[in-house]
Amino acid sequence: MRTFGCQMNKHDSERIAGMLSGMGLEPVPDDADADVIVFNTCCVRENADERLYGQVASLKALKLQRPGTLVAVGGCIGQRDGAALVARIPHVDVVFGTHNIARLPALLAAAEQHRAPAVEVFPSSDGDFASDLPTLREHPWRAWVPITLGCDNFCTYCIVPHVRGRERSRPFESVVDEVERLRADGVSEVTLLGQNVNSYGRDLYGEPQFARLLGAVAGTGMPRIRFTTSHPKDLSDATIEAMASHPGVARYLHLPVQSGSDAVLARMNRHYTQESYLALVRRLYAAMPDLALSTDIIVGFPGETDADFEETMRVVEACRYDQAFTFIYSPRVGTPAASMDGAVPREIVQERFDRLVAAVQASAFEKNLPLVGTVQTVLVEGPSKRDDRVLAGRTMGNKMVHAACPDSTTPQALAGTMVDILIEDAQTWFLFGSVRG
Ligand code: SAH
Ligand code: SF4
Ligand code: F3S
Repeated sequence: MRTFGCQMNKHDSERIAGMLSGMGLEPVPDDADADVIVFNTCCVRENADERLYGQVASLKALKLQRPGTLVAVGGCIGQRDGAALVARIPHVDVVFGTHNIARLPALLAAAEQHRAPAVEVFPSSDGDFASDLPTLREHPWRAWVPITLGCDNFCTYCIVPHVRGRERSRPFESVVDEVERLRADGVSEVTLLGQNVNSYGRDLYGEPQFARLLGAVAGTGMPRIRFTTSHPKDLSDATIEAMASHPGVARYLHLPVQSGSDAVLARMNRHYTQESYLALVRRLYAAMPDLALSTDIIVGFPGETDADFEETMRVVEACRYDQAFTFIYSPRVGTPAASMDGAVPREIVQERFDRLVAAVQASAFEKNLPLVGTVQTVLVEGPSKRDDRVLAGRTMGNKMVHAACPDSTTPQALAGTMVDILIEDAQTWFLFGSVRG
């Protein structure tokens, strides 16, 4: 299985893995040994798209050698392209979409039996929560919990509403029940997922219920609760209050700004201004001075002028971001922005992008410095990549911490547990410390 894209896709992949293991399949590291190869795909930007088509196309030689290997493509590209995928890459056996992952076993069986491609994509308005599917979690101690599917915001650059459909909320009790079950199963961290979690419940209950949901999820005793993504236009004071008052809710917020320019924000259909965004950030820091804040920024949106970009730089300075995911605008067929005038020349975009990245790095480093000398509760993930005696884990603010593991135990044994670590050194993307007690 290869997974591209957002957490929603990672979660869908855990469901897919659960179904495949129910069919008696198990993961193998090498394509050459696989009976089934599944791609769970993303089309939010062009490079993810191209990489996927490249990787699937390159399986041609393997398919010639082992014709019995089934190649399945699902996720957002499957949803968008359907049968066109098989027309472009004939050695694809199965195409499925984002609304029918439960059908994958049947589609694989059909492709094998008829020795012909099986393509099935449901309209993006359909589909339900796949909460009754088996899940093979990547980590036993961490789980994704979808609370909404789809998106109603139609930001003008974005393909997601077109492939994931309208926003549908999952019933309140169903979310809380799942978190309770996960808690009983030993899970230490859940991430509530939705394209815009702040509008959770609007379709079901007439008004957003996210703050109440956060409180109920915290009430299960789940040690650590994260959520993503928050649209600035819908983040309520009740949600800020719920974050500030429940110690289990992470002091970390991902609040995509996309641009600092009011003109660009209006053309993006974002429904807020620089001023209202900055006011929101001020309220957040006032309620939680230790909040870690991250964002998404798009550079080179059609018609972005130098002055527009300077407004984005201004926001980055004012917000003291701990992290920012920066993207070069990528036109997506079928979205309104794709037919807007004012494409920004490549060199200018690159120049702006480089300046932005440097500003974000400086901001992330500055935000880490005051943590030196503090004790942070870290949820251990396992050994660090470079040294298996060093444990790696994350703080409430989502910062990666490395520390020498106590002699009495191993990083593997500590995975999924909370450890207090005295922070002794800070870099841009890492903290280093030693285990307390
Ligand atoms: N619903 C979430 C995630 C959307 S996709 C949200 O609203 O934040 C994640 C990020 O990809 C977006 O926040 C945006 O910054 C970026 N993105 C989406 N479409 C894009 C495009 N066409 N070009 C460049 N970046 C894009
Ligand atoms: Fe895309 Fe905007 Fe919806 Fe996020 S809120 S998924 S950026 S349309
Ligand atoms: Fe990509 Fe689909 Fe997520 S387009 S970002 S995988 S919703």
